[in-house]
Amino acid sequence: MWFKQVARLALGSFVAFAGVSIAQNSACQTVTALSTAPAPGVGVALETYSYCGGTLNVTVYIENVNYNKIVTLYYTNKQNQSTPLSVVQLGYSGDVANTKYEIWAASTPVYVDGITELLNLTYQALDIGHTYTQVLGVNVVATGAAAPAPVPAPSPYANPSGLSQDITNWLEATNGSEAGIAKARMFNNINIPGAANGTVIAAQSYTAPDYAYNWVRDSSLTMDVVYSFYAAATGRARGFYEQILFEYAQSRATEQNDPDTITGLGEPKFYLNNSAFTGPWGRPQNDGPATAAITLMEFANTYLANKGSKDVIRSMIYDSTAHPDQAPVMKDLLFVASNWTYSSFDLWEEEQADHFYIRMVQRRALLMGTAFANMMGDSATAAKLSSAATALTATLPEFWDVNRQLILYEYGPVLRGKSSYKDVAVVLGVIHGYANDGVYGYTNDQILVSAYQIATCFLPVYKIAATTTDVSGAVLGIPVGRYPEDVYDGLLYRASAEYTATGSLAVTTTSLPFFAYFAPDAGLAAGQTYKAGSQQFEAAVAALQGWADAFIRRIKFQTPTDGHLAEEFNRDTGVAQGAKDLTWSYASLLTAAFARAQVTGDKNYVKHLANLGLTE
Ligand SMILES: *[C@@H]1O[C@H](CO)[C@@H](O)[C@H](O)[C@H]1NC(C)=O
Ligand SMILES: *[C@@H]1O[C@H](CO)[C@@H](O)[C@H](O)[C@H]1NC(C)=O
Ligand SMILES: *[C@@H]1O[C@H](CO)[C@@H](O)[C@H](O)[C@H]1NC(C)=O
Ligand SMILES: *[C@@H]1O[C@H](CO)[C@@H](O)[C@H](O)[C@H]1NC(C)=O
Ligand SMILES: *[C@@H]1O[C@H](CO)[C@@H](O)[C@H](O)[C@H]1NC(C)=O
Ligand SMILES: *[C@@H]1O[C@H](CO)[C@@H](O)[C@H](O)[C@H]1NC(C)=O
Ligand SMILES: *[C@@H]1O[C@H](CO)[C@@H](O)[C@H](O)[C@H]1NC(C)=O
Repeated sequence: MWFKQVARLALGSFVAFAGVSIAQNSACQTVTALSTAPAPGVGVALETYSYCGGTLNVTVYIENVNYNKIVTLYYTNKQNQSTPLSVVQLGYSGDVANTKYEIWAASTPVYVDGITELLNLTYQALDIGHTYTQVLGVNVVATGAAAPAPVPAPSPYANPSGLSQDITNWLEATNGSEAGIAKARMFNNINIPGAANGTVIAAQSYTAPDYAYNWVRDSSLTMDVVYSFYAAATGRARGFYEQILFEYAQSRATEQNDPDTITGLGEPKFYLNNSAFTGPWGRPQNDGPATAAITLMEFANTYLANKGSKDVIRSMIYDSTAHPDQAPVMKDLLFVASNWTYSSFDLWEEEQADHFYIRMVQRRALLMGTAFANMMGDSATAAKLSSAATALTATLPEFWDVNRQLILYEYGPVLRGKSSYKDVAVVLGVIHGYANDGVYGYTNDQILVSAYQIATCFLPVYKIAATTTDVSGAVLGIPVGRYPEDVYDGLLYRASAEYTATGSLAVTTTSLPFFAYFAPDAGLAAGQTYKAGSQQFEAAVAALQGWADAFIRRIKFQTPTDGHLAEEFNRDTGVAQGAKDLTWSYASLLTAAFARAQVTGDKNYVKHLANLGLTE
């Protein structure tokens, strides 16, 4: 464990600020706090700072006491609050000649959140286990040009309305349609020859990139689609899906019991023989236990509703205490209940932090788990899950950033490239993690405005966004990064279904930008609630459906004629790239197709697709 050595500079040393040398730099003012390196042993000392045109620059003396260093500057935002977001990580910039000191620096735009005071500098010398701190208490004055103005809201480039026949045809429940292809290609990646039963290969891509692994996340989301088929299927088809889902439960238990995992149940990635991948990787990824449990509880609930045996569910799905080798759900749920507060890598495997997506799926698992454990007669487990769910739910509002009008995909300092804090993972968090209880649901105003902001931010970034119609003149949705198959169409179908089901649509000042972009002609105003049958309600719901189909049409437009979906399409050319036949891409398309069928009212859609090739 590191021990904390606080090099607390006496306040007196800041009298030095009285004699600061202020350098005029085209109206920017740089304050020099210390013009020569401090004495040996001080560890960390502020050299200069400026807050000019909305950008904070700092340089700091860092004593070179060991190789691995983390240097952090804490400040307060324009509300005078210190939060996990009002933090800057510094990087090495150069050596100070003839001393043991280096200069570390940062240049970070902070105008959205603002800055009022530099609080302290913290320098962790990891190898020797020392933490040096300089307490600052420096009030920051903005200088130079005004901070950049907020980017004006984009105007919608189209105004689609209602569902369209071309998308109905593309997603038809037949062998030759894209939905039929997606189903066939998805099953082609489940239980591949030579792999352990119940596993899913992320893609049959063995080099560049090598996706020939069984990822806990991808498998659970794929098996969730298998579950939807199971729930809708009849006859022989139902038995086919049921067997795969029982095998999946077994494979999850095998993963849990693997002695070689590095992060226990948060281990993200397994070989096809289902033994743990132990090379360097971003771990843990704590959404996996949650989404695995969700899929298996959904399956078990439907199995029981189909008059399946409770004893079978207890021994094959739920009771990890009595059946540790085969029943994984209780163990995954208890892991979520006692580990949800820990930071984790995100679903893109990039950053260890507190992630909105992970909290959402964990919350849904805990709430479903509470009901499920009670149903299994296990009130002790139910109580643990329930109290964790309550505590977790109380943390969700911290992801809302009022200055940005955005749900942050993570709560904490971000990698520089993601300082927009926008990530489609937020929308996926709702699609995979909404617990149907009105908390961060499909029509939540913070979710809607975040979805709008995240989608439209791709407009200036992706060249292919300039093509806005297909050859027949039908509207193409905005091309979005990361799993576009599922994201916007899925959310918009679900939101429109929810408005229709409740017969009411409320607009707030928060959600108004969403409607101004996606339903400009509906004439909606903040503070109003529109009832089904009103011109505004009907126009708004039709517009959401029109855009939902337009987002699907974008996928259709970029998909090659053979119907194969790759990991992504190129942002400039639209050509498919990344891993071929990514299982998750097919699963996502099917998930969106199921959501669309709810909107069209086609009650037999999933059944027809489920039974395709299995009962006829
Ligand atoms: C922040 O603190 C400063 C100094 O104490 C004070 O002048 C300012 O009004 C405060 N701002 C807010 C938003 O509370
Ligand atoms: C802040 O740092 C950036 C990047 O190093 C530099 O371009 C800019 O001139 C600096 N601003 C000031 C006021 O020093
Ligand atoms: C530095 O500031 C952060 C944020 O307010 C605080 O959590 C931390 O305790 C401070 N460190 C010291 C040594 O004062
Ligand atoms: C896979 O599952 C099938 C059917 O459940 C079973 O017959 C077979 O033995 C299993 N294979 C392995 C390698 O466990
Ligand atoms: C599983 O597969 C990996 C990769 O091929 C191999 O290194 C490992 O030894 C296998 N484990 C077992 C138990 O067969
Ligand atoms: C994670 O959860 C498990 C129970 O499932 C518990 O044994 C373990 O201590 C937890 N880890 C931490 C760091 O709390
Ligand atoms: C669909 O394809 C499956 C195999 O992929 C085949 O078994 C089935 O007969 C086909 N069904 C129809 C209706 O063409």
